[in-house]
Amino acid sequence: MRVVRTRLHGAAGLGILACLAAMGARSASAYPPAVGILGPARNCLSCHSSEGPWKDPAALIVDILDKTSGRSLRQDDGTFLIPARRGELKTVITVIGWKAGAAAPAPYRNAWLYVDPKRISDPGALNKFAPGWMVNLPMACRVVGDSVEAYSRAALTALPMTVRAGDDAADAEIELQVMLTRGDSVKGDARQGMAGNYFQRRVRLKVE
Ligand code: HEC
Repeated sequence: MRVVRTRLHGAAGLGILACLAAMGARSASAYPPAVGILGPARNCLSCHSSEGPWKDPAALIVDILDKTSGRSLRQDDGTFLIPARRGELKTVITVIGWKAGAAAPAPYRNAWLYVDPKRISDPGALNKFAPGWMVNLPMACRVVGDSVEAYSRAALTALPMTVRAGDDAADAEIELQVMLTRGDSVKGDARQGMAGNYFQRRVRLKVE
């Protein structure tokens, strides 16, 4: 039984393409790749503020689901655990959003990034995901409107990401950096126009 039904408009990678296309040469430091991939910023807060209306933790949704079982990979301590056998393709769904009926207006666009903080400042590491782990889509920015059974009526983005523990992969801990946003930013200015709130989660990768 497929428990997770995500309604993905167009190709799964469209969100990130739109994001990257929006980045002209002058703004190569903007958007999720600004952390680690295009520059040494530690997280989104190096440039963006977190003063948007999405503060209520009871209304916030940041979840990672196992695509096959539909189950949340959230642990009791608030971290997420992604277990994978060596060589196995493991697909998870990153679900970000705001519950229906909550006080603040729904976010319009969510942006996120999975990154190993230890690799951000290493100019020799082209891959900023956990060492030895392959990943197809570690970041995206996406307009809300996806649906996930577990969070009906919420204003959501949901997008799959597939990881694979390679021969030299070890257990690792990475971060999921997330921003809920609304409104358009001003070119070259991360603090004008766009309202946003920043959240961070710990994600453990475990070789089974
Ligand atoms: C080095 C600075 C910097 C960092 C770090 C950064 N951004 Fe940005 N971001 C910007 C700037 C500047 C803009 C404004 C748009 C432009 O100049 O192209 C922007 C714009 C955006 C936009 C919206 C653009 C639009 O179309 O209105 C989103 C969404 C966004 N950033 C998300 C993130 C997220 C999520 C992170 C962290 C994972 C992040 N950014 C990290 C500088 C940064």
